Amino acid sequence: MKIKLQIWRQKNEKAKGKFENYELDDVSPEMGFLEMLDALNHKLANEGKESIAFDHDCREGICGSCSLYINGQPHGPKAKTTTCELRMRSFKDGQTIVIEPWRAKAFPVIKDLIVDRSAFDRIIAAGGYVSIDSGSAPEANSIPVSKNISDKAFDVANCIGCGACVAACKNSSAMLFVSAKVYQLALLPQGKTEAKTRVQKMAAVMDAEGFGSCSNTYACEAECPKGISVKSIARMNAEFLTSKIVTEKVE
Ligand code: SF4
Ligand code: FES
Repeated sequence: MKIKLQIWRQKNEKAKGKFENYELDDVSPEMGFLEMLDALNHKLANEGKESIAFDHDCREGICGSCSLYINGQPHGPKAKTTTCELRMRSFKDGQTIVIEPWRAKAFPVIKDLIVDRSAFDRIIAAGGYVSIDSGSAPEANSIPVSKNISDKAFDVANCIGCGACVAACKNSSAMLFVSAKVYQLALLPQGKTEAKTRVQKMAAVMDAEGFGSCSNTYACEAECPKGISVKSIARMNAEFLTSKIVTEKVE
């Protein structure tokens, strides 16, 4: 396959970026999308040109770092598929592929296609953890959890923190990500210790980081590569109300 590429190039956070055009021959349909970018970088290096900066780590849909906006869709055209899992057979011979970084105030571009997603880390640090006694690993069955609850918790624990939900949302809302993290811990007995204040702390950091509000367009759910449902947002809102009532009673 031959493909044409329009790729966002930006030297650093402050620089003004622009699209640059590239062409690549001999692209195999079985090639992964990131392997195609590796091949392009190899070509650029051979020509003495600066390679294109893009983020990646696991290349198997686990780490959430391969955040690319491809032809107007976060992670490209294939549903429930991360950029690193995407194969070039999803594109046609001769097609032009436009590649951009995530666009959101809370995710500033560091260089080319790489954005700073540390705002998500700060939301997690505010409440996305559980308190445990340190020491050796506890006996697996010492805290029973029903199959129904563990299945639900596992569904939301699938969130890989990629940020596609934010990139897809016209308001750059992080509600799908935050709700997945809140609901996962709210379901499990291990999450009860911090349950009273967790959602309030995480929501406060989410707002302070500059993410927008949710206006129920469901674009986040449509583009989430892990199929996280917007139902978790409703559950987070319920957690928030309960948390407010409990903490105001205590105060
Ligand atoms: S909710 Fe989905 S789109 Fe958002 S960060 Fe998690 S995995 Fe990515
Ligand atoms: S590189 Fe880890 S999810 Fe894509």
